[in-house]
Amino acid sequence: MTQAPVNVTVTGAAGQIGYALLFRIASGQLLGPDTPVKLRLLEIPQAVKAAEGTALELEDGAFPLLAGTDIFDDAKQAFAGTNIALLVGARPRTKGMERADLLEANGGIFKPQGEAINAGAADDVRVLVVGNPANTNALIAQSHAPDVPAERFTAMTRLDHNRAVAQLAKKLNAPVSEIRKLTIWGNHSASQYPDIFHAEVAGKNAAEAVNDEKWLAEEFIPRVAKRGAEIIEARGASSAASAANAAIDHIYNWVNGTREGDWTSMAVPSDGSYGVPEGLISSFPVVCKDGKYEIVQGLEINEFSRTRIDASVAELAEEREAVKKLGLI
Ligand code: NAD
Ligand code: LMR
Repeated sequence: MTQAPVNVTVTGAAGQIGYALLFRIASGQLLGPDTPVKLRLLEIPQAVKAAEGTALELEDGAFPLLAGTDIFDDAKQAFAGTNIALLVGARPRTKGMERADLLEANGGIFKPQGEAINAGAADDVRVLVVGNPANTNALIAQSHAPDVPAERFTAMTRLDHNRAVAQLAKKLNAPVSEIRKLTIWGNHSASQYPDIFHAEVAGKNAAEAVNDEKWLAEEFIPRVAKRGAEIIEARGASSAASAANAAIDHIYNWVNGTREGDWTSMAVPSDGSYGVPEGLISSFPVVCKDGKYEIVQGLEINEFSRTRIDASVAELAEEREAVKKLGLI
């Protein structure tokens, strides 16, 4: 181990996603098997003791790549010098709620955290917001970090992407590894649009292989878009291990690249691509290379897709207005 450890801050470290996430980071799955990590855990004061318990278990893992774990209840300290910031800490929704219902409750968390990232994070900081409503929380954090390049603030739609890949693979009776170029557009909400028109299965167009618009419109899209609610209904709690897994995938690809001939989905600040208003943090197809991501350009968007992308983007614009009114941006 010759490299200096990468500082990884995880908020909500004592929560259910935190518990599923930290051990995988410590084992090297976030950044790769050659990169040591130092964990910086942020919790609210009442949950610091539980985070300390998790830190004891991390120690007991004797992870060769884990260079240490520090626990904070102060955002400025937790983000000081951080290279990777995973903003998980926020209240999850419960049965019957939409993610946007959390806007007011959780929005307040992301302003001080954005300020803290602005004040002290490392120059190369990369931020992933997981706490819901993730896209708009990322927008809040980003708007309070004017000195950090805006594109470093991203939100998680990788769980939706992975869900869509799995459902499509099941429908086509294909291994998940054969599915490529699927896209989640828009918001991490029930309005999101999982797009298979450019997707491939074993090199062939996936929409043509499915050839069933009824399944697409009435089963696949709603199943993926409402999978979070399905999990809450079944488990009595929102997704945790699959969410942690998606956070790992998101950062791993951002840092180490997406595979050749494929792309992934990340919610990133729009540069106006595909008619998405500039600045909204919306999900796009992205390719990652050399530690950077780029929105895939030039895809033809058919009528079916256009309507659905526009609807989800309109919801993001409404959320932006709502947080403006709340004084959060
Ligand atoms: P949880 O309630 O188990 O844990 C949340 C933790 O955050 C708690 O330990 C709490 O003390 C902590 N916390 C609250 N405010 C904080 C603050 N200001 N600073 C630091 N920590 C704080 O919840 P969970 O199941 O781990 O989910 C966390 C969030 O992730 C929820 O908002 C949930 O909806 C969201 N989520 C998003 C996705 C996605 O795909 N984007 C997927 C699953 C869950
Ligand atoms: C999910 O997609 O599983 C999470 O965003 C949790 C939720 O509220 O649906």
